[in-house]
Amino acid sequence: MSGQSTERGAFASNLGFILAAAGSAVGLGNIWKFPYITGVYGGGAFVLVYLGCILLVGLPLMYAELVIGNRSGLSAVGAFKKLTAHAPRSRVLSALAGGLAVLSGFLILSFYSVVAGWAIHFLFVSMGLIAGKGASEATFTAVAHSGAWSSLWHTVFMIGTAGVVAAGVHRGIEAACKVLMPLLFGIVLLLLAYVILETDGVGASARFLFAPDFSKLSGEAVLEALGHSFFTLSLGMGAMVTYGSYLSEDRAIVRDGVAVAVLDTVLALAAGLVIFAVVFAQGKEPAAGPGLVFVTLPDLFATMPFGAAVASAFFFMLVFAAWSSAISLLEVVAAWLVDSLGVPRVKATLGASVAIWAIGLLCAYGVGAPGMGESFFDLFDNLTTKYTLPVGGLLVALIAGWVLLPNDREAGFRAFKLPFFATFWLWTIRIVTPLLVSLVILHGLGVIG
Ligand code: TRP
Repeated sequence: MSGQSTERGAFASNLGFILAAAGSAVGLGNIWKFPYITGVYGGGAFVLVYLGCILLVGLPLMYAELVIGNRSGLSAVGAFKKLTAHAPRSRVLSALAGGLAVLSGFLILSFYSVVAGWAIHFLFVSMGLIAGKGASEATFTAVAHSGAWSSLWHTVFMIGTAGVVAAGVHRGIEAACKVLMPLLFGIVLLLLAYVILETDGVGASARFLFAPDFSKLSGEAVLEALGHSFFTLSLGMGAMVTYGSYLSEDRAIVRDGVAVAVLDTVLALAAGLVIFAVVFAQGKEPAAGPGLVFVTLPDLFATMPFGAAVASAFFFMLVFAAWSSAISLLEVVAAWLVDSLGVPRVKATLGASVAIWAIGLLCAYGVGAPGMGESFFDLFDNLTTKYTLPVGGLLVALIAGWVLLPNDREAGFRAFKLPFFATFWLWTIRIVTPLLVSLVILHGLGVIG
């Protein structure tokens, strides 16, 4: 543990840490992306593969990131460097892992914040504070295709995110997540109760999600599930390394990591259950794609009893989830400035936020990336989900499995006195996880799938 934890900040309790890490994990990935890809890839069989990916890729990487942060007491860049100092030949690996982590945080937040902004717009429309354009398709186009609206909400969202991160680990991140996460869980329960009591789509929704039909499964679906398994758990860019560094040493990080993965999975499934109950109750198709939450759903809400209230609750949930995730993305960049360059937290947060906000404007205005044939929005999305996150995850797996000293590597398992789990984890992270993550990278490069 480094001796500087007082200036760096720390989580005050295990519960605070679990809520913050779950806050990072549960985000647009769970409520917007998981339901729509599940719809596109046909339901049950895809869900089963996704659960397998969480077990074989997500959980092992989650522990690897937490233990690296926890043992080094440093955020991404410094953590990899410190724990691999005994192995000079791995210097390139750890420098790359640290650099990619900061780069990913930067790029992901710049477009994530724009999507979160659209959710704020829909929240205001559903509360009647802004006039919608009639059909939700028109409302969505009006905000997503308007640089002015998109950048307004992007600005609001970045200010909210920066405010929390500037206030510090305990007074900012932990305090915010202690409020946001219980609210989010509460809203999910209310929405579940609503679809059970007020619609007759829950049975069909549960069958769609949980009765696997393997004839619908494609190689493409498996790769999508793999890629999503670490985006949804906030892995591959040092977010969990950074959060792990704010925990005092030898806490039960194995148990905490499992708790975070379980909360994340339960939330994704619950969001899917609610969304498909509404879709099936009105005889609609589940495969609407990315527009499922912003286009299909609001129209369906509008025809339902208490529709405006239900829609508001839903978009509150989406905004809260995105906010607590964005906090962790900004924290990776800010913590790097604090730990590696010695910048005071408030200045670091401000500097990182302004830079990310400025880059995000390119996404908000839908500016085309020169010579790339796509917008900056798509460029950053593709660059991170296809390349920087999988490569980051691969590097973490290799460093944790092959480079770390056993004393560091197994620190989290010691409290359990169950050597079997440590061995199982070790061989998974050494062989299975890198192989599976490599498939995602090869798919991104167009070599397979
Ligand atoms: N996990 C979040 C989601 O599901 C997004 C996120 C937050 C993230 N921090 C991350 C993704 C770090 C990758 C890496 O929406």
